[in-house]
Amino acid sequence: MRDFTYYAPTEVVFGAASEEKTGKLVKQYGGTNVLVHYGGQSAERSGLLNKICRVLEAEGITYIKFGGVVPNPRLSMVHEGIELCRKESIDFILAVGGGSVIDSAKAIAFGVPYEGDVWDFYMGEARAEACLPVAAVLTIPAAGSEMSNSTVITNENGDLKKGYSNDLCRCKFAVMNPERTFTLPNYQTACGVTDIMMHTMERYFSHDDDMTVTDAVAEGILRTVKDNAFEVLKAPENYAHRAQIMWAGSLAHNDLTGCGTTGDWATHQLEHELSALFDVAHGAGLAALWGSWARYVYKENVTRFAQFAVNVMGVTNDFKSAEHTALAGIEAMENFYRAIGMPVSICQLIGRQATDDEIRVMADKCSSGGKGTTGNLKILYREDMENIYQMANG
Ligand code: NZQ
Ligand code: ZN
Repeated sequence: MRDFTYYAPTEVVFGAASEEKTGKLVKQYGGTNVLVHYGGQSAERSGLLNKICRVLEAEGITYIKFGGVVPNPRLSMVHEGIELCRKESIDFILAVGGGSVIDSAKAIAFGVPYEGDVWDFYMGEARAEACLPVAAVLTIPAAGSEMSNSTVITNENGDLKKGYSNDLCRCKFAVMNPERTFTLPNYQTACGVTDIMMHTMERYFSHDDDMTVTDAVAEGILRTVKDNAFEVLKAPENYAHRAQIMWAGSLAHNDLTGCGTTGDWATHQLEHELSALFDVAHGAGLAALWGSWARYVYKENVTRFAQFAVNVMGVTNDFKSAEHTALAGIEAMENFYRAIGMPVSICQLIGRQATDDEIRVMADKCSSGGKGTTGNLKILYREDMENIYQMANG
């Protein structure tokens, strides 16, 4: 097991009606004048937004509402939010929504105390030294941003989607009421399930083979999410199953399953180019690419892919060939994606094949113009990236 530091400071308040505690929590973490940040419609339509406003008022906390975050959240809105926070002397940002809202909130929180353009952080040109406190009322289990140290923002100018990681932006608290996820359309539920599983798999597929305890946690999360996915797609208002998935979403990306192992993250990096160019849902983009990535790299650690096949996908180990078992596991994963309504190719994702030019653009951006690599299980160069996009094109 590799040396590691585990840091997960977010206070998690989980359960039915947990959002009632939001006002007290904001107060506990020093918020007096809050930016309530939210998305398009869902939080307004469900009445959650009103409820949050009422519990803030009950604690004598002032607030301003700032909505309209779109999936693949945009830099222009972040800039607008920074100006608003400065003008109104906001001292706390409360995200009510999913990963896009939380990531936008984190970006605003970095931008307020920074004199330059917040995009500098995402381009790796500066490191944030300060950040307003951020917290989340989560409405979709997926991105894991409620406990992660990351924010992912899309700069419309050049279709650049970039992540920035820094512990300063970790949520002070995360309120999670599984009932709030009952209204999710099946497609969004399935995207979330895919992303949660991928956050675990990105850490699982490595060269570190002495990971007994971390593997057990990872495989437990993967099996739980896989099994409960079918239940919530059939019965969206089943609290017990929604709760399993919601908690798994946080555990999958608060780095618990990364303890002692080196993550891969190639599928994520390749996907970010897909959602930057085609504005697709992140989870669906991951499903469209994963099988191709896996077939491209599995020979780097066949035993691990075979372990995944047996322990997660329930493939019978015939003990004839680890390679056979490994490939059966990849196929089983793709069949799972199909069963939950996810695409397994770019063609299924965007309704047509990507052109050769589009593939070149994505490989160029993913490799920073051919200078950079991605992945760890197998280090991928620009040519590998292009090969994987071509394999996934369908
Ligand atoms: O905008 P509204 O109307 O709220 O609709 C949203 C949105 O259309 C809807 N939704 C959310 N909660 C709902 C609901 N609809 C009905 N009922 C509810 N309870 O779902 C749609 C998707 O929301 P979004 O926030 O975009 O989803 P997700 O949580 O998957 O976030 C995706 C973003 O997170 C980034 C992705 O790249 C993408 O930009 N990621 C962030 C990470 C991080 N910060 O650590 C890591 C991830 O790997 C990921 O890259
Ligand atoms: Zn993800």
